[in-house]
Amino acid sequence: MAIIEFNHVQRVFHQNGKEFVALKDVNLQVQDREFVAIVGPSGCGKTTCMRMAAGLEHPTGGSVSVDREVVRQPGPDRAVVFQAFALFPWKSVWDNVEFGLISLGIAAAERKRRIEHYIGLMGLGGYEQAFPHQLSGGMQQRVAIARAYVLDPKVLLMDEPFGALDAQTRVVMQEELVRLARQHPRTVLFITHAVEEAVYLADRIVVMSRRPGTIREIIDVKSIREAENWDQHKRIEDVMDLPSFVHLRTQIWKLLRDQQTGELH
Ligand SMILES: Nc1ncnc2c1ncn2[C@@H]1O[C@H](COP(=O)(O)OP(=O)(O)OP(=O)(O)O)[C@@H](O)[C@H]1O
Ligand SMILES: [Mg+2]
Repeated sequence: MAIIEFNHVQRVFHQNGKEFVALKDVNLQVQDREFVAIVGPSGCGKTTCMRMAAGLEHPTGGSVSVDREVVRQPGPDRAVVFQAFALFPWKSVWDNVEFGLISLGIAAAERKRRIEHYIGLMGLGGYEQAFPHQLSGGMQQRVAIARAYVLDPKVLLMDEPFGALDAQTRVVMQEELVRLARQHPRTVLFITHAVEEAVYLADRIVVMSRRPGTIREIIDVKSIREAENWDQHKRIEDVMDLPSFVHLRTQIWKLLRDQQTGELH
């Protein structure tokens, strides 16, 4: 069953009195508990797609639906994780994670149960009372991810959530997100510039084309991951060495490179 649906989505912006088509005829269905990554050249409209699913932006043509309802505004069924961690600096780790649950009216005992669970899963045990400025970037991003998962939202929208992290922390976060995604499958739309990250995390990868942004190709990773049993490997570097992984990565690189040369000619 499709949970997120983009139907003939178009987005026109006005810049300096001129119209410019940022997105053209985007059609995508993200199935229940499917992890879909979007890759594409800078400026092709990935963030705009995500903002439309979040209800922060509206299409100028077509529609975006979540669970068969056209998205008109932000809602508690959709949790968003941005590149900038966007934690409340004056709240502790615990209070940051709890905030959304209170707005949802979840009872105290249930809040405690869920917060403890996700703080543990994200390796934040012992830091419950710490404030964001006392944490590293990677830890802050773990809080942001715990805060999104704890809401048990129908849909998770992540826009380059690891973009601001150093390479080592990023790898740890990727492994943790894979663990989380396999333990608690959710419907996820995940934007990244990093092809490897997309191949490692996603069930399907949407490759977008340069302006006007549209979907160039959708690649099925899950069937290959399952057939080749990638999940038997705990470490990302072991998965990245597998011939089936390398093959997919190269395929996507080629698609993206075609976009670049398309621009130059
Ligand atoms: N509010 C806006 N007003 C005018 N133009 C906008 C607005 N928001 C986005 N755009 C334009 O739409 C295009 C797509 O932007 P978007 O941020 O979605 O790209 P992106 O694929 O996320 O890029 P990146 O990979 O660099 O994050 C860009 O050319 C951008 O300048
Ligand atoms: Mg973006």
